[in-house]
Amino acid sequence: MADHVGELDEPDELDAYGIELTPALTPARTSGADELERAAEAALRPRRLDEFVGQRVVRDQLSLVLDAALGRGAPPDHVLLSGPPGLGKTTLAMIIAAELGASLRVTSGPAIQHAGDLAAVLSSLEEGEVLFIDEIHRLARPAEELLYVAMEDFRVDVIVGKGAGASAIPLSLPRFTVVGATTRAGLLPAPLRDRFGFTGHLDFYSAAELERVLTRSAGLLGTELAGDAASEIASRSRGTPRIANRLLRRVRDWAQVRGDGQLDLRAARAALQVYEVDDLGLDRLDRAVLTALCVRFAGGPVGLTTLAVTVGEEPETVETVAEPYLVREGLVGRTPRGRVATPAAWRHLGLTPPVDGAVLFS
Ligand SMILES: Nc1ncnc2c1ncn2[C@@H]1O[C@H](COP(=O)(O)OP(=O)(O)OP(=O)(O)O)[C@@H](O)[C@H]1O
Ligand SMILES: [Mg+2]
Repeated sequence: MADHVGELDEPDELDAYGIELTPALTPARTSGADELERAAEAALRPRRLDEFVGQRVVRDQLSLVLDAALGRGAPPDHVLLSGPPGLGKTTLAMIIAAELGASLRVTSGPAIQHAGDLAAVLSSLEEGEVLFIDEIHRLARPAEELLYVAMEDFRVDVIVGKGAGASAIPLSLPRFTVVGATTRAGLLPAPLRDRFGFTGHLDFYSAAELERVLTRSAGLLGTELAGDAASEIASRSRGTPRIANRLLRRVRDWAQVRGDGQLDLRAARAALQVYEVDDLGLDRLDRAVLTALCVRFAGGPVGLTTLAVTVGEEPETVETVAEPYLVREGLVGRTPRGRVATPAAWRHLGLTPPVDGAVLFS
């Protein structure tokens, strides 16, 4: 699902933060189809902590970490950001660098194939720089081990020569800050997790917070969004700012092409209908998962892999993209024997929950 694939940021976008980027570390462009979407997202990204809507706890904690570091004139502890896609991890990583007035280096777990790739990145870091490692749970094991040492001792052992004659030359690194992002904090090995001095877990946004995101975005797009339209879109955005902003753009399209240009409730409802966003904001994958659970597996319990095969997705996508919101909305439960549909899931699909299904979950 291209929609949900975590994106890395374009150099142009980083420029807008006044952040320096090293070309060698600039992530490769992914498919062209995503580019417009990414540019649209970039334009709406908050650039400072006080523009970042919601996540009050994480914002408070982070601002303390950053202020203390600025006060000491030393780089802050390493920061780990975790949470489902589209909640603001990349945005926060960029904000951290901007607030520190530091330059940002961007890389990702999958981009680092060998420990040597990471050693090259680390040994080129300068004092106080922020190294953003997206999808850090996907780092290869040898790179991960190198990172432990670098994060803790600010040292990297460069291997010179091969075979029996090879030797490790320790190279000391300047103080820098790693900002790691992950949609799967549970997959991070404990030694790596422990090396982060601060972990911020991003949670789904409330409808009121999403309304603020939407109103801010509409302003940046040079349009005005009616209050009732904002709450309609917010309530159907799966608690996710990325989705809220995307729906806003679709409502704007509808208003421009089929409406009278006003982003009002009529335009919001009509556009959401065209794009088949249901009243809980569930998308195709969410509904496929629910339908498979309720209809195909009679409510479960069913294992994650079987469920994923049934809906034609990777287990990781079902687990990190669809499931967290379905669980949070009380539609799906996780049990030791597998995933189960709750009575609310049946009702959401317009079906009558079987009596034993209800018992199963209670
Ligand atoms: N707190 C927020 N306030 C306003 N806008 C936000 C906020 N968080 C995220 N956004 C918007 O949502 C978009 C997606 O956020 P971001 O790219 O940071 O998510 P992510 O957590 O890195 O997702 P992924 O796991 O897919 O990489 C951003 O372009 C930004 O415009
Ligand atoms: Mg991201």
